[in-house]
Amino acid sequence: MSERNGTETLLRLDHVTVRFGETVALDDVSLSLRRGETCVIQGAAGSGKTTLMKTALGLIKPDEGHVYLFGVDTLTARETELNELRSHMGILFQEGGLFDSMTIEENVGYPLVNMKSLKCPPGEVLARVQQALDFVELGHTLEKVPSELSGGMRRRVGIARAVVTRPSLLLYDSPTAGLDPITANTIMALIAKERDTRGTATALATHRYQDGFLLANYRYNAHTERLEDAGGKNLHTMFIVLGEGRIVFEGTQQELETSPDPYVSKFAKPLKE
Ligand SMILES: Nc1ncnc2c1ncn2[C@@H]1O[C@H](COP(=O)(O)OP(=O)(O)OP(=O)(O)O)[C@@H](O)[C@H]1O
Ligand SMILES: [Mg+2]
Repeated sequence: MSERNGTETLLRLDHVTVRFGETVALDDVSLSLRRGETCVIQGAAGSGKTTLMKTALGLIKPDEGHVYLFGVDTLTARETELNELRSHMGILFQEGGLFDSMTIEENVGYPLVNMKSLKCPPGEVLARVQQALDFVELGHTLEKVPSELSGGMRRRVGIARAVVTRPSLLLYDSPTAGLDPITANTIMALIAKERDTRGTATALATHRYQDGFLLANYRYNAHTERLEDAGGKNLHTMFIVLGEGRIVFEGTQQELETSPDPYVSKFAKPLKE
């Protein structure tokens, strides 16, 4: 916990291997994400993006290697300490992960009510939920259930639930998958807005090069309430490409775009939509 302040490493995977039977889902993966950084993870279907996210969150235990959260080795940490560390992370799951039988209010409030280490006073839950839903411009949906919302709206509810705890590290697993281009851009704008208003470290798994490009090149301006071109600054964004569980590329957007590797260069082109 000593590293909680400053420009510390919030997440570090150190030679992590994850196997499912014969399948090597992650193969000797090492990466680190510091405060103020964005990590864009691309790779073919089945290359390990979701496994990487779930391993970072502690839902999957590595067969080899170590995962450090906020500088603490999750392999040796006690359960109470792990829960405390996880309460500083937010995740948007690829499958959405909303509870169908709960209202939107209950879904978004779920982490506040259930993560005991947050110690959120019951009287504050509704105001925090309202604030998180206002952030994604769905403040009017408290009483609805997920099935009453569109796919894009459900994704926005998922973002509200991920940010409601005000985490310092956010993981987004394929937030734009299956959405039309306009809705996808709305989702990405929210992700940039969260990053740039709160300074959250962001890891994004995606199929769309456009998503990483947006995070690397656009910054949310709280005064104009718009995304603006960051002028080629690259915004501390690194790109990773996974292939069959291995990191086959790690570098800047420019390095990705000039990679001679045909598998890697596929991920440096905007998807046709
Ligand atoms: N719970 C599991 N049990 C068995 N195999 C799994 C499990 N989860 C993932 N795998 C396997 O691990 C590999 C990596 O899967 P993963 O879901 O991480 O890929 P992905 O990059 O997220 O794919 P997509 O782009 O389709 O979301 C695949 O071969 C997958 O079949
Ligand atoms: Mg996936």
